[in-house]
Amino acid sequence: MLSVFLVMLLGSALTVVPATARTGAAHQVTYDKYSLQVDGRRIVLQAAEFHYFRLPSQRLWRDVFEKFKAAGFNAVSLYFSWAYHSPAPGAYDFTGVRDVDRLLRTAQQAGLYVIARPGPYINAETTGGGFPAWLKNVPGRARSSEAGFQDAYREWLHRINPILARHQVTQGGPVILYNAENEYQVNTDAAYMQDIQDQARADGIDVPITTNDCCDAGSWSSTWATGPGAVQIPGVDDYPQSFECANPDAWGPWGEGLTEKLRDDIPVFAAEYQAGAIDLGNAGYDKCRELTGPAYMKYFYKNNLVTTGATMFSYYMGYGGTNWGWLAQPNDVYTSYDYGAAITEARLLTPKYDEFKRQGYFLEAVAPLAKTDAAATSPAAPSNPALTTTTRANPDTGTQFVLLKHADRAATSTDDATLDWAAPDGRHQVPVRVRGRDAHVLVAGYDLGGQRLVLSSSEIMTHALIGGRDVALLYGTAGSPGTTILRYGSRPEVKVLEGAVRAAYSGNDLRLDYDHDGLARVLVTGGGRRPLLLLLGTDETAATFWRAETGFGPVLVRGTELVRSATAQGDTLRLSADTAAAGSVEVFAAPAARRLRIGADDVRVTRTSSGSLLGATRAAEQPGLPALTGWRSRAEAPEAAPGFDDSRWTAADHTTTNSPHPPKTLPVLYADDYGYHYGNVWYRGHFTATGAETRIDLNAVTGLRGNYLVWLNGRYLGTAAGGVEADAGDQANPPNPDPGPGHFDIPAGTLKTGTDNVLAVLVANMGHNDDWIADDLRFKQPRGLVAATVAGTVGATPVTWRIQGAAGADKVRGPLNNGGLYGERTGWHLPSYPDKSWKTAAPATPGVTWYRTSFRLDLPKGHDIPVGLRFGGDPSPAYRVQIFLNGWNVGQYGGDIGPQRDFSLPAGLLDEHGTNTLALAVTAEQPVAGPGPLSLFAYGSVRGGP
Ligand code: GAL
Repeated sequence: MLSVFLVMLLGSALTVVPATARTGAAHQVTYDKYSLQVDGRRIVLQAAEFHYFRLPSQRLWRDVFEKFKAAGFNAVSLYFSWAYHSPAPGAYDFTGVRDVDRLLRTAQQAGLYVIARPGPYINAETTGGGFPAWLKNVPGRARSSEAGFQDAYREWLHRINPILARHQVTQGGPVILYNAENEYQVNTDAAYMQDIQDQARADGIDVPITTNDCCDAGSWSSTWATGPGAVQIPGVDDYPQSFECANPDAWGPWGEGLTEKLRDDIPVFAAEYQAGAIDLGNAGYDKCRELTGPAYMKYFYKNNLVTTGATMFSYYMGYGGTNWGWLAQPNDVYTSYDYGAAITEARLLTPKYDEFKRQGYFLEAVAPLAKTDAAATSPAAPSNPALTTTTRANPDTGTQFVLLKHADRAATSTDDATLDWAAPDGRHQVPVRVRGRDAHVLVAGYDLGGQRLVLSSSEIMTHALIGGRDVALLYGTAGSPGTTILRYGSRPEVKVLEGAVRAAYSGNDLRLDYDHDGLARVLVTGGGRRPLLLLLGTDETAATFWRAETGFGPVLVRGTELVRSATAQGDTLRLSADTAAAGSVEVFAAPAARRLRIGADDVRVTRTSSGSLLGATRAAEQPGLPALTGWRSRAEAPEAAPGFDDSRWTAADHTTTNSPHPPKTLPVLYADDYGYHYGNVWYRGHFTATGAETRIDLNAVTGLRGNYLVWLNGRYLGTAAGGVEADAGDQANPPNPDPGPGHFDIPAGTLKTGTDNVLAVLVANMGHNDDWIADDLRFKQPRGLVAATVAGTVGATPVTWRIQGAAGADKVRGPLNNGGLYGERTGWHLPSYPDKSWKTAAPATPGVTWYRTSFRLDLPKGHDIPVGLRFGGDPSPAYRVQIFLNGWNVGQYGGDIGPQRDFSLPAGLLDEHGTNTLALAVTAEQPVAGPGPLSLFAYGSVRGGP
């Protein structure tokens, strides 16, 4: 244990950022034990995680941010990947898809705060956990204060911090929190943790600094308010559902998911709360979405809200995206990083999104939630012992938040009870029903706009003052009973506009009883209050509503797939919205809004008895997508041929390495040691044969799913699987000298005695290990060949080696787009490559064969139609395919790669109104027919879009 440090090092000198950097009005961020505050106003922070590096299309950043905002999120949590920006020491690129200035502006335009998480370490199942692979060559333990590493991470921080600093809330921007490191409790280097914060402060960061602790617990770095390494607001990561997507009925196998309160002076911060999962067992992401679906969200998120009183949430992931290029950390993920998130990789909204929206709107609308204390005893007692309640109350307003759920959290029965509820405005008995694995947050004693809500057994989704009357949207499980009691000065007039609602008035209380069914509408006027339109829905009907703020005041819209934003123009309400099917659209807006325009469509409207506008939406067009024909192919791998000129390749002649894994044979053949960090590498070894050679013994480390292919004097000898870890061993485990062995007998007639023989080896580098446990043995794992011997009856024959990898970083697509295939080095993946001389597609022989075709698209204008590439048939382990769309490496397909058959072709990379080129690099281990059948498909179609 570390001793308690007495020195308060936080809050050191704050650098003033020039006024020119301001993007809006400056605000102050503070906090107390309840919540964050912006200019003294309390907020419940509801963030969703997004990785811009997994969606290399700036226009689509806007789409995702608008979708977050429309679900009631008020913040986005962003990791910044060092590896994505830095191809080599001292080299940094923040242009194009790496333009984080633009990213932050886009977040702000969408109305989101930003939790900035620049690491330096981020984990995130991305190559190196965000560390650039060149860092493996740097001395000094990673994630520590050791010298070499310190210089390196400071270099990154001094590039990224100034960008973040000029976008802080305090400078008029969106960045509200700065998260240092990632789950660093595995390590104990307080000086490192402190230095990250000192560098941030020196670079002008003046918003509160946070950190995310792993695994359900606080640690040395978070529970102390003072001392080196302590941050202002530590938070905790919780993944209660595990990552076992194959078992989607699991119910909290990794715990209760209650975020700890780490210190008395800070709010409870759920820094990463599970909202999806990595697909460790290759079950497919739909299963991950099921594992973390609406039932889980209802139970675990609401339990966390009321039981712990958390007011800062960040859900991991809100949108997952794609491990395009060599972005994946190969041991845990494949190309798709869909994550089973609420918004799919193709940006479609799922039932999980609906649940986020129901909860997000509630958090947004009901202000007393930002300041609550746990009630010592719950004021609401269910008559059925199968059910239980937990309550929090706002100490200023007295508003109660009653969590109603099963006493046994795993119960699957549906149970009824009468709730005997001592609410602030009186005691009432109300019938309730709870399904198994569900939970409800019920509110009592609440000033709902101009109304007084005594209590309701329906949940509040939102409410707003619209055109002089309160419109409130409440909801409950379809078929369950609901009671809402409102207080009036005198008997109000009650008009049930739709549905079956019974009203009774006594002692100033108006009691409404109903069953949740469709959408009931009740208009209450008089009674000494402004009018109230009460909308009583089910989970499903409530989720059809969208809320937006306009010049007419707030509006509620239902019948569209999405409302991105709304504006008032004269007497017209203009919606930027997505619509899919033909149907009705209903708008609750101030009477001044008489006309409706959705996108470019004027929508004819009539006024309903609810005072809303009713019109019709047009169905979206379904695109015709071309068949993929006209494939041409060309075999490459000239490197395998003995006569190939490798004289310009890098000599692989090092005898020492920075890797903590000593080489098993010399010279050192680790690809990173020669500056080849991503994708495939080629080796050519020359030796003069004595004639006694019988065998080639190789060993390669590639990361999971990798392989290597071997030729001698142009003859293909075969393939082997690459290893995952060159294990140096520890106290518990013996060293593993043989991580990825391949033994190849030299076929008779292949050797050329007394002269030059050429061994050619193509090794896949699937990406780099992360550094989750802050252990160089794991992070500084070699890639490429780790041992090579030409063996024979009289010992080993000396070999001289050369190595070749990627030809530098692609200026547009970045350092992770390409490896060192011959075709990549010669631009066969690029749309401009002249392939006219290529032959009609032919089968692939062992080695690398490229297939190219182009197709024209002209998707319907004014639509958002995500397009994918589908591999038919069963993925074969005999080959793997790198898929290039217009030069962008959008993923890898193959039986050994993962379960994925559909690959997202994001707009921006895909030209939706022009010619597109697909280039496939097929690495075959055996002769195969080729990568087919292949087709384009649309994931969906909506009118509208970002
Ligand atoms: C957390 C980590 C994230 C991500 C997540 C699993 O522990 O902080 O970066 O790796 O696990 O997806």
